[in-house]
Amino acid sequence: MSHLIAPSVLAADFANLGRDIEMINSSEADWFHVDIMDGVFVPNISFGFPVLETIRKYAGKPLDVHLMITDPDRYLERFKNAGASVITVHYEACTHLHRTIAAIKDLGCRAGVALNPHTPVHLLEDLIEDADLVLIMSVNPGFGGQKFINRTYDKIRALKSIAAGRNENLLIEVDGGVNLSNAAALLCAGANVLVAGNFVFTAKDPVNTISEMKNLIPGLMQA
Ligand code: DX5
Ligand code: ZN
Repeated sequence: MSHLIAPSVLAADFANLGRDIEMINSSEADWFHVDIMDGVFVPNISFGFPVLETIRKYAGKPLDVHLMITDPDRYLERFKNAGASVITVHYEACTHLHRTIAAIKDLGCRAGVALNPHTPVHLLEDLIEDADLVLIMSVNPGFGGQKFINRTYDKIRALKSIAAGRNENLLIEVDGGVNLSNAAALLCAGANVLVAGNFVFTAKDPVNTISEMKNLIPGLMQA
């Protein structure tokens, strides 16, 4: 499978959201990455259901919803109904993660687990068959435009080896500070979904930037 590109709507111009959604629609992006922050799990608040439903109305691609909220079980069904195709919850925000993953799948969505930079991947040993996707945070969650944490490469490799032979279809998503200087190395390490917010939306030509990320051939690059 070729890797997927998921531009993060958090970096869009909200006064021109329709225009920015159209830009993603017309690009080679695969998903819309949608960041939901509650001001409790992370020190920031992004947006909620009305905005998500509006994005869904105009987006021509699946919505990859990243929940940076405490106790996400309360809202899973509402996120599904608001248009989520992928629902990712944080390991650190769930007491009964196995149950939460099952609930997401029961809704017909793909189930993802996100790990903060300080959370080791080995904590997913007993869950690796159940998750459709693991999102490795390469910045501390809460804000776009932060500096990429280099430790991420080792985490991706470690996760790959945990998933080997147990969940070969696992999607490994990297989120935070992703750009064209680190994307190829991330793919080489084993990532197959790249989220990019500021790098895409501050580019002179975002459609072309997305195309460049999509058409990277990791085998030909240096890790
Ligand atoms: C951060 C969010 C990210 C963010 C990425 O908490 O989860 O998805 O939008 O933005 P960049 O690519 O600018 O780091
Ligand atoms: Zn995110």
